[in-house]
Amino acid sequence: MCGITAYLGSKEAAEILLGGLARLEYRGYDSAGIAICNKGKMSVKKKVGKVKELKSIASTVEGNIGIGHTRWATHGEPNERNAHPHLSSDSGFALVHNGIIENFIPLRESLMRKGYKFVSETDTEVLVKLIEDVMKSTGLSLEEAVRQALSQVVGAYGICICSRDDPDILIAARLGSPLILGIGEQEWFVASDASAFLEYTRHVVHLNDGEMVVIRRNVGYQVSTTQGTTLNPAIVELEGTLDQVKAEEQEEMQIEKGGFKHFMLKEIMEQPVALENCMRGRVKQLVGPPDNQFTLLQRLQVLLSLEREILTSFQSAKRIIICACGTSWHAGLVGEYMLESLCKIPVEIEYASEFRYRSVVLRPDEDIVMVISQSGETADTLAALRHAKQAGCLVIGICNTVGSTIARETDGGIYLHAGPEIGVASTKAFTAQVLVLAMLALRIAQGRTIPDDEYKMLVKELSKLPSRITKILSENEAKICEIAKVYRYAHHCLFLGRGYNYPVALEGALKMKEISYIHAEGYPAAEMKHGPIALIDNLMPVVFIAMQDSIYDKVKSNIMEVRARKGCVIAITDEGNTELESLCEYVIHIPKVSECVSPILTVVPLQLLSYHIAVMRGCDVDMPRNLAKSVTTE
Ligand code: F6R
Repeated sequence: MCGITAYLGSKEAAEILLGGLARLEYRGYDSAGIAICNKGKMSVKKKVGKVKELKSIASTVEGNIGIGHTRWATHGEPNERNAHPHLSSDSGFALVHNGIIENFIPLRESLMRKGYKFVSETDTEVLVKLIEDVMKSTGLSLEEAVRQALSQVVGAYGICICSRDDPDILIAARLGSPLILGIGEQEWFVASDASAFLEYTRHVVHLNDGEMVVIRRNVGYQVSTTQGTTLNPAIVELEGTLDQVKAEEQEEMQIEKGGFKHFMLKEIMEQPVALENCMRGRVKQLVGPPDNQFTLLQRLQVLLSLEREILTSFQSAKRIIICACGTSWHAGLVGEYMLESLCKIPVEIEYASEFRYRSVVLRPDEDIVMVISQSGETADTLAALRHAKQAGCLVIGICNTVGSTIARETDGGIYLHAGPEIGVASTKAFTAQVLVLAMLALRIAQGRTIPDDEYKMLVKELSKLPSRITKILSENEAKICEIAKVYRYAHHCLFLGRGYNYPVALEGALKMKEISYIHAEGYPAAEMKHGPIALIDNLMPVVFIAMQDSIYDKVKSNIMEVRARKGCVIAITDEGNTELESLCEYVIHIPKVSECVSPILTVVPLQLLSYHIAVMRGCDVDMPRNLAKSVTTE
């Protein structure tokens, strides 16, 4: 993963780099570092931990060219030695890297045989020393040596390089890791994503895989392939219209915590607004004079706009394959249930990381591949997308981040419009992803595979989701805090659900483990007796999603089975259902809703439960250990 950034211009580089790194921290926060060149000297500052730690020692470094890095450790533990930037042996140039050099071991051995000494355990240092070796052995310029060295590496990289000996040049290149060039007035920026420099310029060039940019002070930039072919890529203005600028200002405001203690809590609480934004213009109460023939119900419609050919492709698809990772995979699993049930199209849900390396049988004229990603940068999901496109399939994306690599590379898609998600644990993106899948399924099914009254009833339910989430949040938080207090010291926890709420059980368990570090497992409730039941004792909290749906009675039997083994049951069920009180330690009531959209509601108490437990355990909720918001390495 990691976030990289670079600056060349007339301003103080430290301020720009540190500001940019803070915005890129979602990509990793194990350590951070900068290198700045000034008057024939290179100052390098590194610090373990977050960018604010680095800021305390680096904000006064002077110079107007430099590079910066925020790390998610892959090779070597998070310490200062392994922190970037990495330097050539004579400290003549410095490099930051996002990605993995897969053949770093043979390269390192060969460099060691030539006498190079390594101070870190990273794959990145191998690349620096390799460039240095090419320069020394061939007499090539830094730029040409970078090209030569890159031709020898296998793996993925986004890199930026600055040089003490030539402080008027910045070099950057990418293969498999995102990189974007920002163009200002006689100043240039490079970063893993534009948020790092958006406050200075909106004019950008998206670098593609296999491309390199060389920036020279007083001259400008030149994009070329890493083989040396000169390119003339288009400059894109990221936000052109006033509306977009306003939207961005709003986004910047949203990026603040808005009075909440953590981004995660803010994002849980803003789900009603996020879902409203997600449905805006898509689920609509058609305007027009009410008359007797058209009731309010009939005037509700899903107007999710999809290009006609894409809608037709969905309607004639023989199979939909959904690829995603983590929480997005859980949303995809709900999507599988919805699309099969409402649209009668066979669906397969794949972990993107498996799909990309498995011999999946793809039939381009029959299959549609759908990728789901909040960030739009997840390496495995991107690779799955490319794999499917190469096989000739139509690839549709569901993404939150506008302009992300996945959004740009798919054949078409649907944005979540849920607003930026900063907390590492995904919350509002999950509910918005499920909502988009529900809208999509209804759009495909309308007039074809579901009766009209069912369609209308479901559209109405979608339109009510925001107010129902508001109700859940306002009525249950106190009880959830009480539950959190009781179970905060648990070592293990089970989450069980069936049907549409089996993916919610998986999601509840993932939330619990990633932010509170309590070991949690999610299972289809009936699977419990095939193994996990052995774990149950009076210390084991078991969270059931037990909505009164088509399989409620079966879930109730599963609750009995846990009770019989003295497990402590916490149940999520419908308002008005009182019969679970006597069977469970705690019951959380939420509004009654149709089975297929229930995951959008049932997940909310589970998000709050893991949040409060994590806070009570003193965990860093927004930046849990070992994680990053955007997983850009495989
Ligand atoms: C968990 C979480 C991760 C992401 C996963 C995919 O809370 O956030 O599991 O869902 O890394 O990320 P995206 O959706 O950005 O592709």
